[in-house]
Amino acid sequence: MSNKNNKNTVDLSLRQFIKDLGCVTGGAALLGTMPWLQSFTPAAAEEIKKEKARVALIGTGSRGLYHIHNLFLIPHAEIVALCDDYAPNLKAAAELVPKARTYTDYRKLLEAKDIDGVIISSPLNWHAPMVLDSLAAGKHVFCEKAMADSFQACKDIYDAYQETDKVLYFCMQRMFDEKYIKGMQMIHSGLIGEVVGCRMHWFRNHNWRRPVPSPELERKINWRLYWESSQGLMTELASHQLEVCNWATGLNPQSVMGMGDIVYWKDGREVYDSVSLVYRYSNHVKITYESLISNKFNGMEDEILGKEGTMHLASGVYYMEDEKIGKSGIEQLLNQIGNKVFTAIPAAGPSWRPETRKEYQAHNILKGKFDVNDGFSMIGVDNDGSDAILDAFCQACITGEKGKDIVEEAYSATTQCLLGNQAMAERREIFFPEEYKIPYMKF
Ligand SMILES: NC(=O)c1ccc[n+]([C@@H]2O[C@H](COP(=O)([O-])OP(=O)(O)OC[C@H]3O[C@@H](n4cnc5c(N)ncnc54)[C@H](O)[C@@H]3O)[C@@H](O)[C@H]2O)c1
Repeated sequence: MSNKNNKNTVDLSLRQFIKDLGCVTGGAALLGTMPWLQSFTPAAAEEIKKEKARVALIGTGSRGLYHIHNLFLIPHAEIVALCDDYAPNLKAAAELVPKARTYTDYRKLLEAKDIDGVIISSPLNWHAPMVLDSLAAGKHVFCEKAMADSFQACKDIYDAYQETDKVLYFCMQRMFDEKYIKGMQMIHSGLIGEVVGCRMHWFRNHNWRRPVPSPELERKINWRLYWESSQGLMTELASHQLEVCNWATGLNPQSVMGMGDIVYWKDGREVYDSVSLVYRYSNHVKITYESLISNKFNGMEDEILGKEGTMHLASGVYYMEDEKIGKSGIEQLLNQIGNKVFTAIPAAGPSWRPETRKEYQAHNILKGKFDVNDGFSMIGVDNDGSDAILDAFCQACITGEKGKDIVEEAYSATTQCLLGNQAMAERREIFFPEEYKIPYMKF
C-alpha cells in the first residue's frame, strides 16, 4: 500500500524532474518524443490551480484502494463516489472515503452528473464494457491495464476513443516513471548504441491465489486464474514490459512464438504459471520474454540491449560494453596470441577476461535517491509512476486535454500480449493480424 511519508503531493517530484530535463535537453525535444508528459509542464500546472476533478472509483479491490491512497495526495482530485459489487471491498473503500456515495452497479454511478471522471480497477474482462459505457455516459476515463481481453474489444475501445472528445488513460505507469523517462531519453540519444535486443523477465514465488470465504466466490475473487476473466501473466505482467520494448525500439513486433504451461501451481487454475516467448521485429531484433511464479531468484527486469551498452530500466542502472574490459574476450586472446604471450597463460585458467556481466560497472540512470520496484508486490509500489499518471488524468479531467499516445501504447502492448497467448495456445509462430493494425503502430 502506498505510504508516502516523504512528500505531500504526488506531482511535485515529476514536475520538477521534467522541468530539469527540459532545461538540459530543450523541453520541446523531450515533449516531442514523450508527448504524454505535456501535462507536467509548469505552465500546465498553472492552468488547474484551485480546481478539482470530481472522480469516482469503479472496482475497489486491492488496486482500487491503492489508487485511493494516491488520490489523497493529489491536490486537484476529489473522490465523490465508489462502486463495487462485492460488499466487503466496497465497505473497505467507504471507510477510507466516508464522504463518497457508494454504488453496487456501475451503470447507476455513470448516471450521476457530478462525476467528471471514473477510475476503473476491475478484473480484465470488465475493462471493455466499463470503459465503453463510461465514455458513452460522457465521463473521462482512467482504466487499469491491460486494455481489454480480446483484439476486438481493444479495437472497439480504440475506435470509441477516436470518436469521443473525452479523455482516456490506461495505467501504463512506466511512461510516467522518472527512471524510464530518463533511461529512454538516453537510449534514444544513442548512449547504448543501436538497440540489438530486449530481454524482459518477471519472476515471483507467489501463487496468485487469494483466500475465498465461500466456494461460489472462487471465480470472482480469483479472477486472475481463469481465462474467462484474465489473460494470465501476459496481460497482468508482460503488458508493462512489452510496452517498454516498443517504446525503446519505436516499433511493434511482427510475430511471436512461445510456450506456456502450468508447471507448479496445479490447483485447478487455467492460466499458465510459466511463459517463455520470443517476439521478432522487422529489423530482426528480438524480445525474449520470460515469467514464472514459482521462483523469484531473478526478480523483475526490463533490459534493453544496445551495441554499446545495456539499460536495466527497472533497476535504474546502465552498463557500458567496453568500459571495463576494453576488448572482447576473444579479441584479447587473439591479441595475446599475436603478441606471443600465449605460453605465459597459467594452465589453471584463461588469462583473458570472460564476457560476463560481472565485469560491468553499474551507472545510475538518475542522480540521487530513487525507488526501485523488485516486482514482488501484487498491488503496486511507491513512486513507480502510478501516482503520476493518475495525477495527469485528474488534471485532464479539468482541462479536457487528451493524453497523447497513452491509449495507443496500451493498445499496442495489450494486443502483443494477446498475440503471445495465441501463439502459446496454438504452438506456432503468429504474425500480427492486419485488421488490428492501427496507424500509430510501426512494424
Ligand atoms: N498497473 C498495475 O501495476 C496494476 C497492479 C495491480 C493490478 N492492476 C490491475 O488492476 C485491476 C484490478 O486488480 P486487483 O488486483 O485490484 O483485483 P481485485 O480483485 O482486488 O479488485 C477488483 C475489484 O473489482 C470488483 N468488481 C468486479 N466486477 C465488478 C463489477 N461488475 N462491478 C463493480 N465492481 C466489480 C471486485 O469485486 C473487486 O473488488 C486489474 O485489471 C489488474 O490487472 C494493475
